[in-house]
Amino acid sequence: MKLHRNFFAAAILIFAAGVIPAAAQTSNTVASAPVYVPDSTHENDPLPDGVLAFDATLKSVDAFEGSDFARFTFSFTNITPDIVTILNVHPSCGCTTAELPPVPWSLAPGTNGEIKLSVNLAGKQGTLFKTVNFATDKGKRDLMLRINLTPQPVVKMTEAEKAAGIAAAKVDRQAVFKGDCATCHLKNVPGKFSQELFKNACGICHEAENRATMVPDLAKLKVPTNEEFWRTWITYGKPGSLMPAFAQSQGGPLNDLQIASLAQYLNAVHPSSATNEPAK
Ligand code: HEC
Ligand code: HEC
Repeated sequence: MKLHRNFFAAAILIFAAGVIPAAAQTSNTVASAPVYVPDSTHENDPLPDGVLAFDATLKSVDAFEGSDFARFTFSFTNITPDIVTILNVHPSCGCTTAELPPVPWSLAPGTNGEIKLSVNLAGKQGTLFKTVNFATDKGKRDLMLRINLTPQPVVKMTEAEKAAGIAAAKVDRQAVFKGDCATCHLKNVPGKFSQELFKNACGICHEAENRATMVPDLAKLKVPTNEEFWRTWITYGKPGSLMPAFAQSQGGPLNDLQIASLAQYLNAVHPSSATNEPAK
């Protein structure tokens, strides 16, 4: 069955191969067509109207902080009777990459083209503006990208999930790093440091509005603290409690650099109060 079909396909190929060169021979223009050399003398002039019709030259997207990339597609049509050649596409920053056919890219009259842009959002917040310089043989034009980053919505656990979480953590305090639990408790934790890491790895328990009473407020500790204090707690947690051990050496998710960044950050934002002020 398969053999049969392949044989048939091969027969068509042979037939086609026999026909196309014969057709080409009858038309001399194919062999003698001049090689098209794009003219780059207008590369730095503004692109006049009436050359390329863009679907938009400013595009905006909304994304959550902590997303990987914002992606854009711009499409355009050559509305002149001549070829328009795209010479290069240069994003304003190294965080933006452009995807397009190899340049020079010639767009025949009346045809459409499309470029895809992606902006790396790692560590970014607020509203970002990026420009992309789009140069053609008829002139250049800036495409504008706007990205509105908003904080991730707070995840809330239902009472049932909460009870299940506490029950699972009581059996194994490292359960938070496994299976389903990890989808929330390790969300945006790998590769993160300092404040961002704290928010995602620790804040989920310690800064939650309706956290369980056994989860202490780290801003109001009654014991003297220093970087070593934070490092030790993060590394080992506390056996027999719900505070997990975060160090990779203890089966946790964090490497030494991440732990050091957290200890330094926490020591800076929560300086030891117990040693400075006598208990009230
Ligand atoms: C799964 C929830 C959870 C997560 C996630 C968590 N903790 Fe805890 N943490 C606890 C609980 C519960 C305690 C109280 C332990 C006990 O019973 O003493 C605690 C205690 C602590 C203490 C001791 C405070 C004191 O009373 O002296 C420190 C320090 C601490 N956590 C820091 C962190 C840091 C830093 C992170 C992030 C790397 C983190 N925790 C992540 C639940 C959590
Ligand atoms: C949907 C996201 C999500 C999942 C899944 C999840 N957690 Fe949590 N967890 C949270 C949030 C948010 C908090 C902070 C308390 C709150 O808001 O209810 C929390 C708090 C906790 C606490 C501290 C006690 C408390 O209630 O304050 C423990 C322990 C815990 N989770 C363990 C687990 C375990 C174990 C699993 C898996 C069986 C798990 N969680 C699955 C989001 C999640």
